[in-house]
Amino acid sequence: MQLRPAFLLFAFVLLIVQSASARADLSIIPQPKRVERGEGTFTLDKTTSIQAPAGRRTAEIVRFFADNIKEQTGITSAKSGGGNRIVFRINKSIGGDEAYRIVVSNRRINIEARTDKGFFWAVQTLRQMIQAGNAPAVAIPAVTIEDAPQFSYRGHMLDVGRHFFPVEFIKKQIDLLSYYKINTFRWHLTEDQGWRIEIKKYPNLTRVGAWRAEADGTRYGGFYTQDQIKDVVEYARVRNVMVIPEIEMPGHSMAALAAYPEFSCRMKPINVTPEWGVHKDVFCAGNDGTFTFLQDVLDEVLALFPSQYIHIGGDEVPKDRWQECPKCQLRIKAEGLKDEHELQSYFIKRIHSYLAKKGKTLIGWDEILEGGADRNAVIEVWRGDAEAAKALANGNRVIIAGPFYFDTPQQNKTLKDVYQTDLLSLPQYRENRKLLLGAEAPLWTECVTTVNAESKLYPRLQAFAEVTWTGKRGDFADFKRRMATHYRYLDALGIAYGPEDKAVANYKITFDAAKRVWRLNTDGGFDDIVFRYSTDGSEPSADSLSFKDSIEFTQPSGIKAAPFRRDRKYELSKPFALVANKALGKPVKFANPIDKRYEKAGEMALTDGILGSGDFSDGIWAGWQGADLDATIDLGLRASLNSIAVNFMQQSGSWIVLPRTVTFYASDDGGNWAELQSTETKADAMDMSSAIRNIRFVAKRSISARFVRVEAVQFGKLPQGHNGVGGDSWIFADEIVVE
Ligand code: ACM
Ligand code: ZN
Repeated sequence: MQLRPAFLLFAFVLLIVQSASARADLSIIPQPKRVERGEGTFTLDKTTSIQAPAGRRTAEIVRFFADNIKEQTGITSAKSGGGNRIVFRINKSIGGDEAYRIVVSNRRINIEARTDKGFFWAVQTLRQMIQAGNAPAVAIPAVTIEDAPQFSYRGHMLDVGRHFFPVEFIKKQIDLLSYYKINTFRWHLTEDQGWRIEIKKYPNLTRVGAWRAEADGTRYGGFYTQDQIKDVVEYARVRNVMVIPEIEMPGHSMAALAAYPEFSCRMKPINVTPEWGVHKDVFCAGNDGTFTFLQDVLDEVLALFPSQYIHIGGDEVPKDRWQECPKCQLRIKAEGLKDEHELQSYFIKRIHSYLAKKGKTLIGWDEILEGGADRNAVIEVWRGDAEAAKALANGNRVIIAGPFYFDTPQQNKTLKDVYQTDLLSLPQYRENRKLLLGAEAPLWTECVTTVNAESKLYPRLQAFAEVTWTGKRGDFADFKRRMATHYRYLDALGIAYGPEDKAVANYKITFDAAKRVWRLNTDGGFDDIVFRYSTDGSEPSADSLSFKDSIEFTQPSGIKAAPFRRDRKYELSKPFALVANKALGKPVKFANPIDKRYEKAGEMALTDGILGSGDFSDGIWAGWQGADLDATIDLGLRASLNSIAVNFMQQSGSWIVLPRTVTFYASDDGGNWAELQSTETKADAMDMSSAIRNIRFVAKRSISARFVRVEAVQFGKLPQGHNGVGGDSWIFADEIVVE
């Protein structure tokens, strides 16, 4: 057969493409320290054998490697020589226990390391070089790779207290941590909102402490049995990942205190709280029983976790209870402490010495520096460089977490931001290089569940892996180029990774007064995101009705919408509550303008028929600071009215306080007003619970009016004891509903 010129050209182009890709850099993440391409290729096929020195762990690594080759390519390696060989060899001249060298030549792959740790990372590098896909033979380009991490601590923390994550989910993420050479999984196991680890001596910790009543009355919770914990620790060990537990003390401990109130200062029953934030109920530092309890708990924890490090939290400890507690005050006196900050230091030091006796090293958040910390403690810095500087000046070792809070939305902490983080930005780090152990990427889960966790973690975790492994800011364009290969890998694994620099979903809902419809506009962080919704209160699923950018609703209802990608829900659903009423779409005059930061709906903010959610910054709530809400609605015509109602928000931690009084008026001409009702709310700025209060006037008999006015008098200056003492409170309202 004669080849036609067009076909020849095609074949020629293919050749060029192939040789170009053979010349190209390998797409390894994190980027190895040195990569030098050689001539030729190694062919991996069923005649390839793997040889390794004796040793239980080495044999396990070889098995892991062979299993993964089989899984990625379908190739079963040969039991003994004959074909090409992959040879593991201990080489004590290789620097660092995680370092390794790989030399790929035509007939042989040599893997050298000082320890099994290095062997394992070499295997992960080789796995990245072997493209997935069934093939009888895989060509691995000749190359010499020399690699070692710049930081010994490269961690990811998952908060399983705010939301619970099943073992299978955690194992899936450990697979990825390991694939990217992140050597630490930090398990944040206890929180105000839930205690998640079985402790046999104190069964109430999980019987009571693992469960909370949500605001809507439903029960939420879960915990890991000790067998499950052992299973995860073992699974991680096989993958070169150390699991470090975090048992929070003395704060973030309401769940423990709900189970055992005798270890709180007030010794009164409390509930496992469903509220996020910082809570005042903390372990009593004056009661020796508290320490016995915590030491018993730690004994069981130490038996489950072989890690050198144990994290004890130590962050965000309000001193209110200690100030009023006779036992705590007695402790301060007896120990010659200056104040409650030194009592915090006493608490941590006492736990520190207990752990030290057991041969363990304590890690705590940077608040453990308060009142002085033991020099051997490791400080996890989250509040910034000033805390880091303090820790280094004190001679403490440091882990950097602040720049890597992956609960931060992607648009506010982009892939590029993470990739370009300079771990040595602080001069003190360069001067005390040995004290900087590395970094950790925490995922706090107030707003994160299994639905959206992966979109928060990836691909930012790949960037984090490279920053902590290489210890420098690399070439972002090159990283992005390598990520293309890794996106295909994540796709194959079914990982719901997120956009690089955009929100997964943006929503804007408005009422179109001319057409009398509500319009929901959406914008997805990927082009192939579709939105699905329900109007019956159910959770949108892959079978729910869908739309792409915009949808109109003519009937008032409760809508739930969520973004889906490849039939998988990508973000928690967002509820929209639409209500029809006589004021719907009517213009409102405000005596005091809505604050610029919370005025998205303009003059229809309180008459668009859209109720606010629990989130004051949802774009639906209107806010006034240091001013009263005074709104006049012109209904256009005289109408018969039976009720007027307004929702107000209380979220005093954010300075949002109920108005002191709410007065309703009606008028025929907008000049002469008849007062209908005035309600005292008994607003309390020291009430830190979140609530939405509906203030309502109900007419005994229908009244007739054209104008309606609502006047809500602000709480005023925030009082002594409030975090914003002296500041102006906010009024937040979402809607005036006239029926
Ligand atoms: C923290 O974010 N409270 C450590
Ligand atoms: Zn106390």
